Amino acid sequence: MEREQLVEKTSAFVKNKLEGAEAGHDWWHTYRVWKAAVKIGTEENADLLVVELGALLHDIADSKFYDGDEEIGPTIAREFLESLGVEKEIMEKVEFIIRNISFKGGFNNPVNPTLELQVVQDADRLDALGAIGIARTFNYGGFKNRPLHDPSIPPEHYKDREAYKNSQAPTINHFYEKLLLLKDKMNTKVGKGLAKQRHEFMEAYLNQFFKEWEGN
Ligand code: ADP
Ligand code: NI
Repeated sequence: MEREQLVEKTSAFVKNKLEGAEAGHDWWHTYRVWKAAVKIGTEENADLLVVELGALLHDIADSKFYDGDEEIGPTIAREFLESLGVEKEIMEKVEFIIRNISFKGGFNNPVNPTLELQVVQDADRLDALGAIGIARTFNYGGFKNRPLHDPSIPPEHYKDREAYKNSQAPTINHFYEKLLLLKDKMNTKVGKGLAKQRHEFMEAYLNQFFKEWEGN
């Protein structure tokens, strides 16, 4: 099958599968990551088939919505790609992206990232930043019924991946525990540039947030 056709079939599969998902991890998150990944991947001369399939399938079954099961996503992706007859080498590269893309409190660094993982990871991280990043974060907090902010609960530096995953902290803490750390973790030149702009936008937002919190 041609790249265009594979990508089209994959996007239709993902769109259908993510029906009804939490808004921060739904089809439109995947869509934004896909678009950004193509843009960054083109600049970086990455293998665009791997980039597109990886971006489209990266959140097909996020473990945090499946009781922490980290096998379900890669398994669904592999079975789907096999059903399309995608060659083994491509499939393995895509699976590598799905397994290694996530932040997970920064405890999940692969030893040897491929260029294609770096591209999709940057695209995924960009969607955690800026105006959309802010919207997604409060949506997730609402989904989990967390307070917006509680001045008596400061942000934490989690000891390990479990502690990060199990955190019940107010949503604003997530900016300090993850989002503001992302700009220094970007892999590619284009990714770094976009992350810088979005980071500055979040800083301005937070300044305003704390000002308003005290009635100013
Ligand atoms: P992780 O590997 O950290 O779970 P994700 O890529 O799944 O990363 O997180 C995506 C987005 O979901 C975050 O950028 C954020 O908007 C939201 N999110 C994840 N965890 C939290 C949290 N504890 N509080 C608020 N938002 C969160
Ligand atoms: Ni994602």
